[in-house]
Amino acid sequence: MMKPGKIDEQNFIQRLSPERRIVVLTGAGISAESGIPTFRDAQEGLWSQFRPEELASPEGFRKNPKLVFDWYAWRRQKVLEAKPNLGHQILAAWEKQFPHLTLITQNVDGLHQAAGSEHVMEMHGSIHRLICLEERHPSPWVAAGSDVPLCPRCQSPLRPDVVWFGEMLDRVILQRIGRALSQCEIFIAVGTSGVVYPAAGFLDEVRAAGALTVVINKERVGADRTDLFLQGSASEVLQRLQSGWNQRDQGTDSPAR
Ligand code: OAD
Repeated sequence: MMKPGKIDEQNFIQRLSPERRIVVLTGAGISAESGIPTFRDAQEGLWSQFRPEELASPEGFRKNPKLVFDWYAWRRQKVLEAKPNLGHQILAAWEKQFPHLTLITQNVDGLHQAAGSEHVMEMHGSIHRLICLEERHPSPWVAAGSDVPLCPRCQSPLRPDVVWFGEMLDRVILQRIGRALSQCEIFIAVGTSGVVYPAAGFLDEVRAAGALTVVINKERVGADRTDLFLQGSASEVLQRLQSGWNQRDQGTDSPAR
């Protein structure tokens, strides 16, 4: 098991290897470079007068289902117009390069899959799917008319298949995440503010168990809680790590300090 302790980028690249059990957790920051507003920035224009909890909660939906449904339709349209960026693409390549890598995302945009990642744990669901309010019957996305669409099976209102404030996460996904974290040797958090649990607790959990932790963020977020903090945009930092790995893999890098 990796022992935590402050390391530098070169040392980290030396410790990367296809044998290592790696967990990558991504947040809205990795999709920001694809033009998707991060969760809180999403309060642009029309939505600026609402708190996220009013739009992303069961109470908010019951109070004004059409407003909430329209907000997700607006966010989904932004996602459909977006393309995965280099950060998504590098993580998709890492799925092949590091066979024991687990990718967990808090994002609901599906851009990791669009970049080629085949095994993505979407712990907060997906904006591309709907479920019905009463029975959680799954449904592909259906545009709203004057009212929100109804479930063809039970006629209850359809809502986005995403985790809302105050809702429980999918138990099966949580179990799979727990297994991955329990075996994790290297944990990399990319573009997340680390304020929403349970994801916000993953880094401390694996670090306490002896994993090596890396945080990649545009802002200095979580720098004092991790073994290695790399400030910069997700795509820029991941690209630098990838080229460091390529050099090392071809045996052309400088000896580890
Ligand atoms: P946030 O919007 O809370 O945080 C985004 C993080 O990404 C911030 O720390 C930014 O500094 C960082 N960031 C922004 N652009 C970046 C870039 N180009 N490169 C690297 N980092 C960048 O989003 P999340 O942490 O993902 O929950 O939020 C977690 C959850 O809170 C979301 O999944 C959502 C929200 O409630 C649900 O939808 C259930």
